[in-house]
Amino acid sequence: MSYTANPDRYESMIYRRVGKSGLKLPAISLGLWQNFGSLEIFENSRNILLRAFDMGITHFDLANNYGPNPGTAEETMGKVLQSDLKNHRDELIISTKAGYHMWKGPYGEFGSRKHLLASLDQSLKRMQLDYVDIFYSHRPDYETPLEETMGALASAVQQGKALYVGISNYNADYSRKAIALLEQMNIPCLIHQASYSIFERWVEADLLDLLHEKQVGLIAFSPLAQGLLTNRYLTDIPKGSRMNKEHGTLSTQNLSQQTLKKIRLLNDLALARGQSLSEMAIAWLLKDPRVCSVLVGVSSVDQLTQNCASLQQTAFTSGEMEAIQRIVDPQE
Ligand SMILES: NC(=O)c1ccc[n+]([C@@H]2O[C@H](COP(=O)([O-])OP(=O)(O)OC[C@H]3O[C@@H](n4cnc5c(N)ncnc54)[C@H](OP(=O)(O)O)[C@@H]3O)[C@@H](O)[C@H]2O)c1
Repeated sequence: MSYTANPDRYESMIYRRVGKSGLKLPAISLGLWQNFGSLEIFENSRNILLRAFDMGITHFDLANNYGPNPGTAEETMGKVLQSDLKNHRDELIISTKAGYHMWKGPYGEFGSRKHLLASLDQSLKRMQLDYVDIFYSHRPDYETPLEETMGALASAVQQGKALYVGISNYNADYSRKAIALLEQMNIPCLIHQASYSIFERWVEADLLDLLHEKQVGLIAFSPLAQGLLTNRYLTDIPKGSRMNKEHGTLSTQNLSQQTLKKIRLLNDLALARGQSLSEMAIAWLLKDPRVCSVLVGVSSVDQLTQNCASLQQTAFTSGEMEAIQRIVDPQE
């Protein structure tokens, strides 16, 4: 069926400025790490992408290796861009990344100029795009000079293949250095993409403060701890869930009795707030204005709709905040 975008798509989404840049991102962005590759049903992936756009989600996050199979999430994005979103390119922020293993040999991963720029060309081809909006170094590479990796990001902008650049999974110390190097080249670091959720709090040690000081945006990935912070595993491990899939990146080891107990207590707390657990987990991130966007992954339109409902209530009482802390870290 041919697609016509919802004329009211910008009515309910909230847009937040990314650091000190001119760019705003939707409070909820959609990631294509899983559920959009060649092993999925294309129509389901397409429906999710189009529903997201209809709800004001303008930002779609990819990487060279997203699938499975690697590269095929970008192909799916490319197909939907061509068939349905062609006339909306200027309303979209498409990001991609390079750094994790993508092809055989010494240039297929990490942070060399060779890997980053070759990978970006491949990504553009798969997505049938002339440029991406954000190009990331996907992970730090301590064996390649940081000057070379940041230089490659700067070249991507200078060549017109990316509008902005970012880093992902860099610790605070390396982020500080990367931001400074990019500044020297007059190519500001727009954004840092880091894992952050009620369960995963490493950014709170020093990265959040650094990014705030440098006015670089933080986009939080895996906000639902890959599905743990939802009602998905409250009673069992459903067929077709990430934990049940052969190529899934969650395992039963991630669901210890202790973790399950925390999930159930958090679920009770969310219900008492009038939200589902996934809504509360996203709202918990959005309560902090330093988080410019929350990057969710979904396997259905229903999950996406529910996650967007989190925007209706992002405030927490101090009692709720303390209760969450006590559940997550009962020792404190
Ligand atoms: N930079 C990096 O290194 C990096 C690493 C990881 C992710 N990311 C980015 O972050 C994005 C999101 O990561 P993620 O997929 O791990 O995020 P997530 O939002 O924490 O987990 C997504 C999974 O949670 C479940 N889920 C989502 N909404 C739900 C709901 N309302 N009710 C029940 N279950 C729900 C679904 O599991 P089922 O599939 O079981 O239905 C879904 O696949 C990725 O697509 C990628 O763009 C970046």
